[in-house]
Order: sequence, then C-alpha cells, then structure tokens
Amino acid sequence: MPIRVMVTRDFDHMSEVAAELVKKDIIRTLKNKDEYVFGLATGSSPTGVYKHLARAANDGEFDSTRIRSFNLDEYVGLPGRNPQQRLMHPESYGYFMIQEFFGLLHRKFLETNLPWGSLIDQKRLLAELKAYPGDWRELGRDRGRQIRIKAATESQYLGWIRKDILGAYDKSIKKAGGIDLQIVGVGGRGHVGFHESGIPFAGSRVMLVRLDENTVADAVSDGHFQSKKESPRYAVTMGAELIYQAKTVLLLACGERKVKAVAESLLGEPTADVPISYGQMYSQKGGNLIYVLDEIAAAELFLNRKKLEQKGIKVQKTL
Ligand code: GLP
Repeated sequence: MPIRVMVTRDFDHMSEVAAELVKKDIIRTLKNKDEYVFGLATGSSPTGVYKHLARAANDGEFDSTRIRSFNLDEYVGLPGRNPQQRLMHPESYGYFMIQEFFGLLHRKFLETNLPWGSLIDQKRLLAELKAYPGDWRELGRDRGRQIRIKAATESQYLGWIRKDILGAYDKSIKKAGGIDLQIVGVGGRGHVGFHESGIPFAGSRVMLVRLDENTVADAVSDGHFQSKKESPRYAVTMGAELIYQAKTVLLLACGERKVKAVAESLLGEPTADVPISYGQMYSQKGGNLIYVLDEIAAAELFLNRKKLEQKGIKVQKTL
C-alpha cells in the first residue's frame, strides 16, 4: 500500500488526527474479531494520542476491555536491587505507560505487555557476557549494537534471556494473532523502539540491544536521567522486522530533532542506518504505513514533494 504522510499544525493537532485514525481502526476491527491487538510506544510523541484515546474509551466510544497491548521496548539497567524496584522506577517504560495511558482508563485493557527487560540484572548480564564470549556476538555497524545470543549457550543466564525474555515475547505476540496497529516514534538518528541505527534488519524480531551513545545523550538531555552514568545502557526491544509486521504502522514525529530522520526514511533507499526506512519495504509488501507529523518534522518532505510523488508517496496537509 502507498505510504501516506499527513502533515498537521502542531503537537496537539498531530495527536488529534492520529487518535482519530486509531479510534476508527479499533472500532472497525472490533466489529470483525473479539480482540484488538494494539502496539504501543513510549516517549513524548504519543502522549497526546493516549489522552485522546483514554477519553474516547471512557466515553464509551470503544470497548477498552477487548484490547490487548504490546509495547515496543523496555530498559535493562534501571537502578534497583530487584525486578520489582526496576519496574517501579519512575523512568521505566512500564511506569510511563501506567501514568500516560493505562492509568487513565476507567475500564482497563484485557492485558498489557512490555518486554521483560526489568527481569534482567544488568550487572549479572555484563558478568555473563564477559565470562562466555562464545555465547553471543554483536551485530551493527554503528554505536548501538544487537547482542545476539546463540541458540545453544554455555551460560544458563544468557540462554534464559534468549528463550524466556526475547523469544517468549515474540511468541506471545504471535499467539495474540499479531499486532493490528503499531504506534511508533522516531529516535534522533531514525531508530524505532530501540532498534538502533546500524543494526541489521534480518533477525531483528525481539532483541537485546546495547544502546547508542546518542540515545543515552538524548535520555539525559530530555531530563530522564541526571547523567549518562545513571542512564541504562541496554534495552529489550522489538526490532524493525517484527514492528513492520503489524497490519498498520502509525509513525508520529514532531519538532526539529526529527526532521533529518523523517526525511531520510522516505527520500533515501531503505538502510539499516535509518531503521525507520524499513517502512518503505513494508509498504511495498502491502503494509499500511501512515506518518502523522507536525509541520516542523515534515519540513524536508514538503520541500521534496515531487520526488516523493515519484516514489508513490503522498504528502498531504491536514487542516
Ligand atoms: C526512545 C524510545 C523510542 C521513542 C524515542 C523518541 O528512544 N525507545 O521508542 O520513539 O525515544 O521519543 P520522543 O517521542 O520523546 O522523541
């Protein structure tokens, strides 16, 4: 399906337009099947959408108890002595989701899932990676790397991560029938979830990732962590290969920091350097990809409208 780009005035307008698209998709889908499988993202971009959706659900516009959700990613290495403390850290994505969405719903979702990154003890992870170098390899041509754990491991801990943290999350999405609509934001360098720039597409379903320095710097400059030292260094995330299997992918981007990544993702050829460019392959294979941007994030796309039209991509101003 052709990629649709909707250009809105600002964050509030972007949130309104995107929430309307999601709401329609939920209502339409729930007419044909029992459950809606909703892929969620963290970050500041989707917060307005979540408020609109919670209000609509609370007003009875759709049945939130028939929604099962899967989040893209979760940190590994948040401060805390045990999983419970790490999960309840105010910067965990679990905490974020309760605050920004789940907690706003009067009638809760049937089930919510986030990758089980908080179960991993970062100290133990580092020790096992060091002790068993033959059990894993790093993939990626930039600073963020996928830590790919082999099928047969000497380390029980690494084997457990592969099977019960990464593989099991992938399986639970499959068991739910796949994702109906996935919301994604964009990292400064075009990452999606924590599929960092330079990590190859192939084999990127649910991954253990060592974060890019740029991601860590953004987390500090956005005020999430006081310093790079306190910021988590790893994450568990869906990768582009899995994300772009959803029936619809809705990408939200707002503001100056997103201009370059958004432009590169559609104007250039698909490349692992800009993971969201994978969307072009997805749309060629029949996927429904919609960008909802504010005017600033869309600036370069607007200047290159002709080139995009030649690629079959429609850039549309939404008033
Ligand atoms: C983090 C998340 C991404 C998110 C990105 C952008 O890196 N792991 O999933 O898209 O932040 O966040 P924001 O929307 O705040 O710009």
